[in-house]
Amino acid sequence: MIRTVRAAAGPLTGTVRVPGDKSISHRAVLFAAMSDGSCRLEGVLDSEDIRATMGAVSMLGAAVRVLRTEPRGLTLEVDGWGAAGPVEPPAQIDCGNSGTTARLLLGVLAGWDVAVTLTGDSSLSRRPMRRVTEPLTLMGARVTTSEAGTLPVSIRGGALRAARVEMSVASAQVKSAVLLAGLRAQGRTVVIEPAPSRDHTERMLPAFGVGVGRRASDNECWVDGPVAVAAADLSVPGDPSSAAFVVAAALLVAGSSVTVTDVALNPTRTGFLSVLARMGGSVTAVPGRASGAEPAGAITANYGGDLRGVLVTAEEVPSLVDEVPVLAVVAAHAVGVTRFEGVGELRVKESDRLEAVRAGLSALGATVRCGEDWLEVEGPTRLCAASLSSLGDHRLAMAFAVAGLVADGPVTIEGWEAVAVSYPRFAEDLTALGAMLSC
Ligand code: S3P
Repeated sequence: MIRTVRAAAGPLTGTVRVPGDKSISHRAVLFAAMSDGSCRLEGVLDSEDIRATMGAVSMLGAAVRVLRTEPRGLTLEVDGWGAAGPVEPPAQIDCGNSGTTARLLLGVLAGWDVAVTLTGDSSLSRRPMRRVTEPLTLMGARVTTSEAGTLPVSIRGGALRAARVEMSVASAQVKSAVLLAGLRAQGRTVVIEPAPSRDHTERMLPAFGVGVGRRASDNECWVDGPVAVAAADLSVPGDPSSAAFVVAAALLVAGSSVTVTDVALNPTRTGFLSVLARMGGSVTAVPGRASGAEPAGAITANYGGDLRGVLVTAEEVPSLVDEVPVLAVVAAHAVGVTRFEGVGELRVKESDRLEAVRAGLSALGATVRCGEDWLEVEGPTRLCAASLSSLGDHRLAMAFAVAGLVADGPVTIEGWEAVAVSYPRFAEDLTALGAMLSC
């Protein structure tokens, strides 16, 4: 599907409630499936990635009932498999485009004696899986990957040993997989990261009756196994990574003022707000009612004219790893150079996002350079019309749409359907704020 985005005729104004957080929704569905009772989950993101997780746990024996489908998200009732464990699925489990589904599921399955094969779409089938399968093998699971270390991955779990895993990259998916395997291992399983990645697993597990130890000074966390997962009810706040596109659009389109309500404000996710503020953007986050252990509130972004280039350091990248494409679009409008350091992980996301951002912004007339793990954007540039491809990557599609709102001519984005992975209503929400997008 092709979308054409035209320069906004006037300011973007209004309030939007972005859909439920993708990372929190995956975890809510997975932990509910592991639990020994019935869980009610509200505000769950209704997107292709979360449907992949719902489909996977259903194949493994959890009962997932959709009680309500609303713009705010899904209300689900999930009956978990508890102490009985998952059943062997009748077929391979297709994780679609979702890295979180594949990687966290491997951790969930590692402690059970069932044989499961995970597959994915062409993008997911290129992404590295050894970072997860190696520590799980060390803990005692039998796991095989393709020769390239990718999907399909077959796993047969069983009795696990606790492990101390020192990760070479900050990855919430790997950290979560190891912790989830640790729930079934004998003893203390410890994960140490080079920098703090998103901590939704650590925050959510206690609601399911599982204690998680943490030593922030060493980026260390642990679980003591074996431990049962109890049933819990919870509500999912809006996704700050989806909000980032709306916020960026408001900072770029003259006269705009937009508020995003009920959005997660977990500090491991809001690095983009600090970067935008350093650039001179008018962004404010006002804490409101928390969603369980997740801080939440409202973000307001006002157009304020001049932005300046900044340095984004490797230490802050995990807190904004999914926002780099849209931050690069903002950077094209800032005076001077914006440099992102330590962004090599972007090469193994849903696409090679470093190269895709370089190519896409170059086609839009911006000055962009990238290396193995850095990206530089030099501005300000008045972006021009271009025909771009999402490369099947939801965050590229939305970042290019934001560029289209301030470009000199129409920006067409081929492969628009990728937005269904995380923000199916993105075009509708932008239109309601005053943007012009056509099919
Ligand atoms: C996610 C973690 C991040 C992020 C991804 C979702 C998660 O990846 O990019 O979109 O839900 O745990 P890392 O594993 O690189 O942290």
